[in-house]
Amino acid sequence: MTLFLDTGDINEIKKYHNMGIIRGVTTNPTILCQSGVCGGIEGIKKRSIEIAKLIAPMPLSVELTTNDTSKMLEQAVEISKWADNIVIKVPIHGPEGEIENLRIVHELETKHKIRVNVTAMMSAQQCLLAAMAGATYVSLFCGRVNNMGYDSVDEIRKTRQALDDFNLKAKIICASTREVFNVIEWLLAGAHIVTVLPNFLNGMIVHPYSKETVKQFISDAVKLQREHVEAKK
Ligand code: E4P
Repeated sequence: MTLFLDTGDINEIKKYHNMGIIRGVTTNPTILCQSGVCGGIEGIKKRSIEIAKLIAPMPLSVELTTNDTSKMLEQAVEISKWADNIVIKVPIHGPEGEIENLRIVHELETKHKIRVNVTAMMSAQQCLLAAMAGATYVSLFCGRVNNMGYDSVDEIRKTRQALDDFNLKAKIICASTREVFNVIEWLLAGAHIVTVLPNFLNGMIVHPYSKETVKQFISDAVKLQREHVEAKK
């Protein structure tokens, strides 16, 4: 069980990487836009190389920007050359349900030896098929699953059971965190990895009662020192 950071923000990545508490980074076009990336594919390339260098050899997931199946393979190969630790994110299918994407996943993993993270998945059955196509990672968008009125924990359990029973190599990444509590909940349900928003990692660390306790220790340390100085006078 481990944690990835779900951001394209270099300062946030540096901060948590320096603490030793992340094992990879995931991005998507929306996250990169929110992290100030601009300039089209060249902007994505620049930021991706920067992140990949910073966290190497840990994996960085970078999503394809094209849905054109005649160009996806070529773009995936191109992006994979940016750095050795880049994993290509391929959506489970196209915007209108085009299912060619799984052929691309299969070719990338088997012919090109490029690691793939199949993304935008909402169910165990999607994850099972992505894993059978050869994906290294299967991303279940648990927050979005909950938002649709389904139980993400149930989908995680079913996905893990299916991967274990079929002896498939894919690791489950639970994505779309919506609450701090999601992290422990999803890991305990069977996720291999949860990819977490930076502010939720902060929320996992900081506790109001820990603050109060630390404040008490600091104030008593000051008191002890003051008494010591006064005793010496
Ligand atoms: C990570 O791999 C996903 O792209 C990300 O968690 C999606 O988050 P969202 O559902 O909040 O857009």
